[in-house]
Amino acid sequence: MVILGIESSCDDTAAAVLRDGAVCSSVVASQDEVHHKYGGIVPELASRSHIRAIVPVIERALAQAGMGLEAIEGVAVTAGPGLVGSLLVGLSAAKAIAFARKLPLVGVNHLEGHLLSPQLDAEVPFPYLVLLVSGGHTSLYWAEARARYHCLGRTRDDAAGEAFDKVAKILGLGYPGGRVIDELARSGDRRSIRFPRARLKPGRHGRRFDFSFSGLKTAVWQYVRERQAADVDAAAVAASFQEAVVDMLLDTTLAAASEMGAQRLVIAGGVAANSRLRQRAGDAAAEFGLAVAMPAFRYCTDNAAMIAYAGSWRLLRGQRDSWSLNAAADLEL
Ligand code: KG4
Ligand code: ZN
Repeated sequence: MVILGIESSCDDTAAAVLRDGAVCSSVVASQDEVHHKYGGIVPELASRSHIRAIVPVIERALAQAGMGLEAIEGVAVTAGPGLVGSLLVGLSAAKAIAFARKLPLVGVNHLEGHLLSPQLDAEVPFPYLVLLVSGGHTSLYWAEARARYHCLGRTRDDAAGEAFDKVAKILGLGYPGGRVIDELARSGDRRSIRFPRARLKPGRHGRRFDFSFSGLKTAVWQYVRERQAADVDAAAVAASFQEAVVDMLLDTTLAAASEMGAQRLVIAGGVAANSRLRQRAGDAAAEFGLAVAMPAFRYCTDNAAMIAYAGSWRLLRGQRDSWSLNAAADLEL
């Protein structure tokens, strides 16, 4: 089955074509330049940029796959969670194509796309533990089987990627901050500043493996504020901050892996592109006998290949959404 995937939940406009689960093309148009000077995403600018980009991005995905619209047999589109104005752009384009070509349409949960993203490169057998770390989410899921995902924990305040972006802003490095901090941290001493690591007790909701990054973000802000700009070694701050994030992510993830008796761990989402997290996760996996799968860089950050992949399973099972499919900003998995 040839499926067109469309993703516009946040600040990337993306389209991809999959044939029988294999990626024929995956095109992502980033809006980093639009939001860079604001140090974060401006939702209204994001939706307007999606409107300008969506048709050219879909055309490029088809061209790179060497296909026309007539070859497409189903359309999968992100229906949430995300920015509602952004989601509506992809959703409207998907509906228009599906309606005009009389194709089946399915809405996909963006988080399911991330959870399944390593499968684009190589099959990861269920069940597995997933650490989903992105700009909007930091959660642990037990992926029992397709469409059976259980949330074991999530952040109670900032997402890990959001913390990277905010610290980059504090250091005057622009948006998005993750990649810049990752690069800067390579030349800094990660042991030079001891930032706090939060360890949370089980929460009201019974979740045992929650995260919190706001204390760490505040500690970095205080550290920088208490010093003259010339006395702040940005590389040391970046490396020490990054090490604290990685410690917190892996401590909680390994505790959950042990509790669940997990044999496989998936790390997905934009922050899974972080080189230190990848290195430390690889080391920890070897130590604890876990098989760890992390998506290729191009599938860590937002993309439509993972949406098409998640949608293909539903389409093949005959699932369809109606034309009343709507965007849901806080769609649960
Ligand atoms: O998954 P994604 O593209 O979008 C969301 O669904 O949120 O993730 C974007 C996030 C941003 O916060 C960005 O700073 C972070 O991923 N990120 C990184 C790296 N590359 C992207 N964080 C740490 N290290 C990186 N190398
Ligand atoms: Zn995402």
